[in-house]
Amino acid sequence: MDLILRNANIHKYDGQVDIGIENGKFKEIKKEISEKGEEEIDLKGKLVTPPLVEIHVHMDAVLTVGEPRFNMTGTLLEGIEIWGERKKKLTREDVKERVIEAVKWQLANGVTKIRTHVDVCDPSFTALKAILEVKKEFDGLVEIQTVAFPQEGIYSYPDGDELMRKAMEEGADVVGGIPHYEWTREDGVRDVIFAVELGKELDKLVDLHIDETDDEHSRFVEVLAAETIKNKYFGKVTASHTTAMHSYNNAYAFKLLGWIKRARLNMVTNPLDNSILQGRFDTYPKRRGHTRVKEMDSMGINVCIADDSIMDPWYPLGVGDPLQAAFVFVHYGQMSGYNEMMSLFDMITENPARAFGCGDEYGIKEGNPADLVVYNASTEIDALRTVAPRLYVVKDGKIVVESRPTERTIYINGKKESVEFVK
Ligand code: FE2
Repeated sequence: MDLILRNANIHKYDGQVDIGIENGKFKEIKKEISEKGEEEIDLKGKLVTPPLVEIHVHMDAVLTVGEPRFNMTGTLLEGIEIWGERKKKLTREDVKERVIEAVKWQLANGVTKIRTHVDVCDPSFTALKAILEVKKEFDGLVEIQTVAFPQEGIYSYPDGDELMRKAMEEGADVVGGIPHYEWTREDGVRDVIFAVELGKELDKLVDLHIDETDDEHSRFVEVLAAETIKNKYFGKVTASHTTAMHSYNNAYAFKLLGWIKRARLNMVTNPLDNSILQGRFDTYPKRRGHTRVKEMDSMGINVCIADDSIMDPWYPLGVGDPLQAAFVFVHYGQMSGYNEMMSLFDMITENPARAFGCGDEYGIKEGNPADLVVYNASTEIDALRTVAPRLYVVKDGKIVVESRPTERTIYINGKKESVEFVK
C-alpha cells in the first residue's frame, strides 16, 4: 500500500484503526493492517475526520479589512458602506492575489471544498472572472463553487435579473439571492421565485442569503420552502444566515421548521459574522440573532456551520477555519452538550458536503477517494476546545498539508518543562 496511517481515531468510528491507502483511494480501514506500507505514519490516536467543507464564504472580500478604512462601529451598515468604497478599486489581480492567499489558509485548515458567494452587481464581473481563474488553478486540490450573489438585490439593482443570468452564463455554479434586502416585501418574494426557477431551469444548485436581519417580520424562508416544494427541487436549495428565525414567535417557528424539513432545505449558520452583526438595534437585553440550530438538527434538517468572512469590512478577524466558527457556536448557540459538541463536526464536514452536492464519494470508507484531515488532538472535544491545528491534510492519497505543532517551554523555579494543551 502507498500510505498507511496507523492508530487513527476516526470521528464516529469505534476504537482506533489503521487506514491503508492505495492509488489515491481508501483500500483498507481496520483494527490492524498486517501489510507494510511504502510510507507509514503512526498517528498515536489522533482525531481524523473527512475534509472540512466551507459552505459559505465571501472570497471576493477576503483580506480587505482596513481598506480603505476600518469599520469603526462594527455594524453591518458601515461594513456595506466600506465595501462600496473598496469595491470600486477591485481589479482582477487584486482579487486573485487575496483569494489565492485565503484558499491556502483554508487548505491548511483542512478545507478542500469551498462555496463562495461572489457579488455580481457589477456588469464587468471583475470578481467573478478572477475567482473562476483561481478555481482553475486549484483544480484537483480544492474544489471551488461560485454563487452568483446579487449583493444589492435582483430587483433593487438596475438589470439585476439580467446580471444574474449573465453571471451563470459566465460560469457561476450556484444561483444566489437576497430577498430581505430588496426594497419591498413583494420584490423579496419575486427574488426567491426568480432564484429557484433559474436554478431549476439551468439544473444548478440554489443558495440564498435570506432573512439575515433581526426583523421578525422578515419571512422569506417560508417562500423559499414553498417554492422548493412546488418545483420539486428537494435537497438542491440552501438557506443561508436566516437569523430572523431567532426572533420569530415559537408558534410561527414551529410551522416554518416543518416546511423547511419537507422542502429538505440545507440550512447554513454563520456564527462569526452574525454574533457581532446581529442585535445591533437592541439596547438590553440584546438578541443573539441566530437561527435555530439545535431545533433543526434534532429534527434531522441538514444544518451547516460556515465562516462567511475572513478579514473583511464586516468581520475583521478569521483564519478561514470552520472549526473556529464551530468553537464560537458552542458558546453562541449553547451547543455545549456532549452530543451537541460531537454533532458540530458533522456540521463542518458531512452536512455541508451534502449541501455542496457531494455524493457517496465523500467520507472515510473503503473505495472512496482518500481525503482526510488529522488534528493535533485525540478527541473531538479536545480538537474543539483548542481549535486544534491540523497535522496533516490528505487529498487523493497524497499529503498536501503537513504541520508541526508549536513547542512551548515554561520555567518553574528555573526548571525547564514543556507544556501542551492536549492530553
Ligand atoms: Fe454571507
